[in-house]
Amino acid sequence: MGVANAEPQFLRARDALGGVPGDVVVLSSKLHPPARRPGSIVRQDLLARLNEGVSGKLVILAAPAGWGKTSLLRDWCATDEASRAAWLSVDQDDNDPVRFWAHVLAAIAGVSPGIGEASLQLLTAPGAKDAEGILTPLINDLVDLAAPITLILDDYHLISNPNLLECVEYLVEHLPPTLRLVVSARSDPLLPLPRLRASGDMTEIRAEELRFTDDEAAELLNIKFDLGLAQEHIKALQRRTEGWAAGLYLAGLSLRGRPNPARLVSAFAGNDRQVADYLVSEVLDALTADVRSFMMRTSVLDRMSGSLCDAVAGCGGSWRILEGLERTNQFVISLDASRQWYRYHQLFAELLRHELDRTEPGLAPLLHRRASAWHREHGSIGEAIGARDFGRRSCGRKRIDRRALERLHERGLGRNRGGMAGPAAARDGGRRCPNVPGNGLDITSSWSAGRR
Ligand SMILES: Nc1ncnc2c1ncn2[C@@H]1O[C@H](COP(=O)(O)OP(=O)(O)OP(=O)(O)O)[C@@H](O)[C@H]1O
Ligand SMILES: [Mg+2]
Repeated sequence: MGVANAEPQFLRARDALGGVPGDVVVLSSKLHPPARRPGSIVRQDLLARLNEGVSGKLVILAAPAGWGKTSLLRDWCATDEASRAAWLSVDQDDNDPVRFWAHVLAAIAGVSPGIGEASLQLLTAPGAKDAEGILTPLINDLVDLAAPITLILDDYHLISNPNLLECVEYLVEHLPPTLRLVVSARSDPLLPLPRLRASGDMTEIRAEELRFTDDEAAELLNIKFDLGLAQEHIKALQRRTEGWAAGLYLAGLSLRGRPNPARLVSAFAGNDRQVADYLVSEVLDALTADVRSFMMRTSVLDRMSGSLCDAVAGCGGSWRILEGLERTNQFVISLDASRQWYRYHQLFAELLRHELDRTEPGLAPLLHRRASAWHREHGSIGEAIGARDFGRRSCGRKRIDRRALERLHERGLGRNRGGMAGPAAARDGGRRCPNVPGNGLDITSSWSAGRR
């Protein structure tokens, strides 16, 4: 890839573009992808996906913290296809539009010297800045390029200045064929995504695609970390982490050097010190105290709806919170197309429950009782039992058999929304959960509502 001069660390924006010194300082380390770490595995399928994607206008990588967005882009930058890639690691300070555009211009000039010079002059001139006026000369310069440039904006979720967001949208609306944009962020960038999607001009790479495959997990754990784990243990860790790259890497770090790593696989959890440190610093610390408290209190639930969370957390507006958490990719996963039911990523839920016990000791049983009451009221018998029996693990699954379920239904506890009640629901083998559209009463997972 082509980048602006590596030295010195700080450049005046015009130095970066080969002109006279101006006022805007460009930090050249922001114009490079992070260095490749030993232990990093190359993900060929995703690199191929990116290669294909950059032939269109826009590629977005949108996934929560630690799903491997930056690592993938960094590896792509090392490929021949990325010889004309311009990199910018966005940070909070880039909410200053002058600073942001100065860095963008420097990144582009690093690949194609001279491009954006007129825009930079306007940017560094005294007086009010007109975004359209600044971008027009850049767009005109780009149109004349013989070969396209790919501009990568990593950590774009850190941009929140509405004027700047609008300005980037303007650029996207007027992208010449010679500039492709790759935007990596924890949440969907505020860009005209539906239109670009519909026109086939956009490629989306999300947590689903970034999830480590079994083979990739095996390569990371057994080749890079040399853990010598059997396939079943790899699969177990894969399930625990749900393919979350940082989680797998941290699992590898945790197990490395232990005398019998396989024995420790089942104990690996969200409160593992390294995972907890990561999630606290990358996710929890960035949330407001109210949202953090909401998440800790609702972490006792296997599945969450707005109404259930209102009842359990003792607040209003839970649906909005859930919807916002999912939209901003805070380890909240939607379970149905109508976005009524959600769950937390397993490791994250474990960490939250751990934090709940630490910060509000003794509260969990009350939260489970509230959940149980809600389920009784709303007819999801299995979950009512699971939540009620929290803390009474000795009367586990085996003791609540089909007959017991029937008895509960006979006592009026088992009415469900789907019209199937009592013995009929029990006969159905407890496979469906009435409150999850198209899913049904899930007795099996209901037991884990009280899992700790
Ligand atoms: N290809 C890979 N090989 C090995 N480990 C990886 C790979 N990709 C990601 N990881 C592990 O996951 C961690 C997080 O990856 P990365 O920084 O790329 O995530 P991200 O999605 O960019 O996160 P953020 O939203 O915080 O920027 C890495 O530090 C590394 O431990
Ligand atoms: Mg990143």
